[in-house]
Amino acid sequence: MSDLPHQSRKVIMDCDIGWMNDDCTATMFALLSPDLDLLGITPVMGNFDLDHEVACALRLLELLGRTEVPVCAGFDRPLIHERSSYADQVWGKWGTLQPVESIPPGLPTLQRDPRHAVDFIIECVQKYPNEVTILATGPLTNVAVAIRKYPQLVEQVGEIIIMGGNIPGLPRGHGNITPMAEFNIWVDPEAARIVLRSGAPITLLPLNVCRLTHFDRAYFDRLASAESKHPEVARLFRDYLLIHFENPEVDRKNARLFYGLYDHCVVGCAINPDLYTVTEMHVDVNIVQGAFYGATHGYQRGTYSSGAYQFPLDDGCRPIKVAHEMDFEGLVDIYLRALTE
Ligand code: BDR
Ligand code: CA
Repeated sequence: MSDLPHQSRKVIMDCDIGWMNDDCTATMFALLSPDLDLLGITPVMGNFDLDHEVACALRLLELLGRTEVPVCAGFDRPLIHERSSYADQVWGKWGTLQPVESIPPGLPTLQRDPRHAVDFIIECVQKYPNEVTILATGPLTNVAVAIRKYPQLVEQVGEIIIMGGNIPGLPRGHGNITPMAEFNIWVDPEAARIVLRSGAPITLLPLNVCRLTHFDRAYFDRLASAESKHPEVARLFRDYLLIHFENPEVDRKNARLFYGLYDHCVVGCAINPDLYTVTEMHVDVNIVQGAFYGATHGYQRGTYSSGAYQFPLDDGCRPIKVAHEMDFEGLVDIYLRALTE
């Protein structure tokens, strides 16, 4: 055994956090894991309107007694994608500019940090070159603008681990917000394209792998019986999850039979990348408005036998790591350990 002190991995949680949604409980996972040092939370609109998300992040920090962690708000709307009647019908309240009236445990008194998410991300990367990992579990607007504002970020960031997209050629590769697209990428396809083409070291966790986390009642019972370090937050989390098991109407409305630990996959990957089977692929995003808007496609470059040509011809799309299989039990173990030990 080494006598060296335990080195925690420095991370920023860039997320569309709500109250006890998967971003929220994934952020809790990052806050409680001894393997991670959470430098800050940078909310971006997505599942919810930005001000609601900021309030949820601040309240979570208050309940966990982690008020030293800064919350730096990012963008309240995508770069180009305008809210439409379709967006109004689907899961997600991005860009609705609603006043924050309440959240279940009450509004926070803690204030947000005045820095914009983009400036906070850049500052952290400059302060700790090659050490900062961005955990991106919402639309990629903040990350894309950080790259545009400070292009050196792509060489100086440790890694960007992203929950987003769907790879149709691999198992479980259909979309979830449209038949072709995944929610995080569809909300801001142009931002996603900037990030995926940036050349930064990226690990992408698409729906193909996240769909392996749809858990059943047995897992819920395991979680509910775990002794938490923060019983009040654990109780809120359990009450929220219980709805998904005890109220079939809610499940049907959300088109989910089981609740999935989608955004937790990103936190788990930062703690133990060996939980995932990863392949190098070129992944790009369709930014033409219409049925395929926000669809991702991933491929491995082929070479003609002559060696003269590659398909597709160079078009700016760079290889990234794509996770496509995972050890779900392993993720559950580290999650429960973070909550209880
Ligand atoms: C993603 O969309 C969000 O609603 C979830 O939090 C997750 O990040 C899944 O498509
Ligand atoms: Ca999310």
